[in-house]
Amino acid sequence: MKAMIYTEYGAPNVLHLKDVEKPLPQSNELLVKVYASSVTSGTIWIRKGEFPGSKVFTVLLRLMFGITKPKRPILGVEFSGIVEEVGNGVTLFKKGDEVYGTTTGLPQGSYAEYVCIPETWKQGVVAAKPQSLTFLEAAALPVGAMTALHILKKANIQAGQTILIYGASGSVGTYAVQIAKYFGAKVTGVCSTANQELARSLGADVVLDYTKGDFTNCSEQFDLIFDAVGKLNKTTWKPLLRKGGTFCSVKSPTAEKSEYLGELHAMIAQGKLKPVIDKSYAFEGIAEAHEYVELGHKKGNVVINHHH
Ligand SMILES: NC(=O)c1ccc[n+]([C@@H]2O[C@H](COP(=O)([O-])OP(=O)(O)OC[C@H]3O[C@@H](n4cnc5c(N)ncnc54)[C@H](OP(=O)(O)O)[C@@H]3O)[C@@H](O)[C@H]2O)c1
Repeated sequence: MKAMIYTEYGAPNVLHLKDVEKPLPQSNELLVKVYASSVTSGTIWIRKGEFPGSKVFTVLLRLMFGITKPKRPILGVEFSGIVEEVGNGVTLFKKGDEVYGTTTGLPQGSYAEYVCIPETWKQGVVAAKPQSLTFLEAAALPVGAMTALHILKKANIQAGQTILIYGASGSVGTYAVQIAKYFGAKVTGVCSTANQELARSLGADVVLDYTKGDFTNCSEQFDLIFDAVGKLNKTTWKPLLRKGGTFCSVKSPTAEKSEYLGELHAMIAQGKLKPVIDKSYAFEGIAEAHEYVELGHKKGNVVINHHH
């Protein structure tokens, strides 16, 4: 099968096409023909072998993904596709099912024609694709949406609360705005001029522009502040947080759980949640997609169409 592999850390051009052996499903695994994958911001760091601005996190990343060179040559955390074959022990899925999920903790990522996914495992998730989502949309959902949901739930978001979402235009940010609205919060989004309309269209009640003047001059204090891009410093957010309020950030650990996908599916079914797709690239264009995502200004998500 065709795969996009990397055998050394570095710039997007370390990614190259190669014919590799098609994986065989174990008894607890599904063989999925991949229809779409994505380029998350985390994938960029794994390709570079470097965590921006942190030596400690870079060491941890190298311990996890390979000290001097990548241990897993096929990147790609999110996927959607169709089950082509199931192992003997699989009970939850069958051939022909439309599925999506993550490859977290698995030996192979989704930048390939096929991937083997256990029907359940500890670190990642696989589920039936919500029918209202296209394969491209489904491949953009799990990482950003589960991160936003996990962090907002940990912060104990409640109906009627006021929340400031800093970085309302990225993957985590666009999901956070929609999920916070779903929970009944009053949302103030912060993003640049070009993304004001996007944040409003996702349901933000108020949108502030971090490029124009000082958004911290807003007179309001918030029950919750969510830094969805990990770029706020304490001196900026502290005065904006109401006494007893909660600050949360994408820099905190998150978790992938099937229950989270269940909650997200309910929001999708009610028309309250939809992935924002900035651009889609062909499979051969993955390196180009990495270049774009690495600029740090994508709107929502960037996806890879394996069957364009
Ligand atoms: N904890 C976890 O497990 C976990 C999971 C997923 C993601 N993350 C982390 O969460 C962060 C966000 O991820 P993401 O995928 O959502 O990022 P992303 O989509 O790549 O973020 C891009 C967005 O950030 C905005 N942005 C860039 N600089 C900004 C600034 N100074 N102030 C406000 N907005 C700014 C950009 O808007 P403009 O063009 O308008 O600037 C753009 O829309 C990353 O650090 C990622 O690693 C953590």
